[in-house]
Amino acid sequence: MAFKQLDSFNSTEEIRLALRSWPEVDEYLVQNKGVIIPLGSTEQHGPTGAIGTDALTAEAVALEVGRRTGVLVTPTQSFGMAEHHLGFAGTMSLKPDTLLALIHDLVISLIRNGFERVFVVNGHGGNIATVKSAFSMVYATAASQELPAASKVRCKIANWFMAGPVSRQAKELYGDQEGCHATPSEISITMHLEPSLLEKQKDLPRASPVGPIFGAEDFRRRYPDGRMGSNPFLAKADHGASFLEKAAIALSDDLIQFLNAP
Ligand code: NI
Repeated sequence: MAFKQLDSFNSTEEIRLALRSWPEVDEYLVQNKGVIIPLGSTEQHGPTGAIGTDALTAEAVALEVGRRTGVLVTPTQSFGMAEHHLGFAGTMSLKPDTLLALIHDLVISLIRNGFERVFVVNGHGGNIATVKSAFSMVYATAASQELPAASKVRCKIANWFMAGPVSRQAKELYGDQEGCHATPSEISITMHLEPSLLEKQKDLPRASPVGPIFGAEDFRRRYPDGRMGSNPFLAKADHGASFLEKAAIALSDDLIQFLNAP
């Protein structure tokens, strides 16, 4: 079995890989082969949302999942595939092949020293296709390099914003004004995490409706203020606390199933 149920912790210090020493990681690996990688994006989030929204939310959910399950959490990968947001200032994007290589290299590094179950907590829809491709490359590399645990390696991407209880709450609170970019649910979590963001919120005219995406210039033309169908004015910090808890509970269940599956 790749996983022994560990105690949950009162704080996140115990589960942050960045705060562990290598002998401590070796010791952890005797009982638990699981690891969480938070993955976000650094991109425009409409006229009022923070550029770091997807990284802030992914990190908060990942740390809370780690705290509840005792599974180690790596530093956050705050840059993702945001090519279609490059028409807006502040966006910093990795091309799909760059992100693919980056995720591949990070996961192979973990596997080389004994991790077997890699759980990516993702905050950005634009990362999904590329991360899944990276996992395919990871399996191929682990096999071709004959890494000791190659046959046991499993990778999974978990998108907190797609968890059932999160989507249901977003629908109840915001209906169709949740939209699909710069959504009130993700903005709510950032307001809960960073009180300075509360002051940025203001009433906004209705956003452009949800539609297709064909690159940066086309995106800016279709969605001139960066939102897609969303009304972030509906966001509230206490909604954010509730979204964060719902996401963490749902993803902790997913993680434990993933660690215990053959
Ligand atoms: Ni986002």
